[in-house]
Amino acid sequence: MEVCRTVAELRAWRRAAGDVGFFPTMGALHAGHRDLVERAVRDSEAVCVSIFVNPTQFGPHEDYRTYPRDEEADLRLLAGVGAAAAFVPSVEEMHPPGDQTRVVPGTIASRLEGAARPGHFTGVATVVTKLFEIVRPTRAYFGQKDFQQLRVIQTIVRDLAMDVRIVPCATVRDGDGLALSSRNAYLSADERRRALCLSRGLFAARDAFAAGERDPARLRRIVEGIASEAGRLEYVSVADPMTLAELDAPAESAVISLACRVGRARLIDNVLLGMDLADLS
Ligand code: PAF
Repeated sequence: MEVCRTVAELRAWRRAAGDVGFFPTMGALHAGHRDLVERAVRDSEAVCVSIFVNPTQFGPHEDYRTYPRDEEADLRLLAGVGAAAAFVPSVEEMHPPGDQTRVVPGTIASRLEGAARPGHFTGVATVVTKLFEIVRPTRAYFGQKDFQQLRVIQTIVRDLAMDVRIVPCATVRDGDGLALSSRNAYLSADERRRALCLSRGLFAARDAFAAGERDPARLRRIVEGIASEAGRLEYVSVADPMTLAELDAPAESAVISLACRVGRARLIDNVLLGMDLADLS
């Protein structure tokens, strides 16, 4: 596997690479990431994974400095699953002096995570746009756990007619239902036990939807009743999966998303109801 640290090195690799699948990450790779890289390897002639903890998507009081980093383990995992290149740029490489251009997504980025973390999606949209420009992938893989991020990126790709296919990938969970996340590393054993209430709440709403419940307020209350045991719930949203606008009337498809503080971890999770992830491709 080639490890590229500069844009020039990555572009030199890219010129010889053919059809490229790309997975942008912030490192601290876990089994969920591995799953996704394996899928990309099956689909592509060559797979490039970026590892870059992007400072511009963190708020001033968020965990940029303490975000888990383990480059050696990440590179080992990527080489082991057959990635052809890892792009591991420095902050200076991605944001050289004088850097001033930002990609500002529209209303889809203003709700939920966008409301809770002002500027977050501008940081994500800018770095992903720049990474697409550098890597020029045929396909790019995004996980469902960050559902709003997936929809923001799909919207940007459509709006700017970018020549890349976004491949949505199902959330990977531990056997007991906890969505895999690099931030799970912050949880103590007791906090991890409590965090299970998040997926339990979402699954209870999914079961109610399967049994015919369509009222968004009742679905929200089902989640809140269980997930609030995990910690401090920031929001539970029952929204249109395409626009992420909050539903105020029964609908045949929805995404239920939540964010919750559990100890010092801020965890997000979601379930998609009444449609398949593949419908978003
Ligand atoms: O999902 C992530 O890890 C990040 O938001 C991404 C897409 C790599 C951009 O920094």
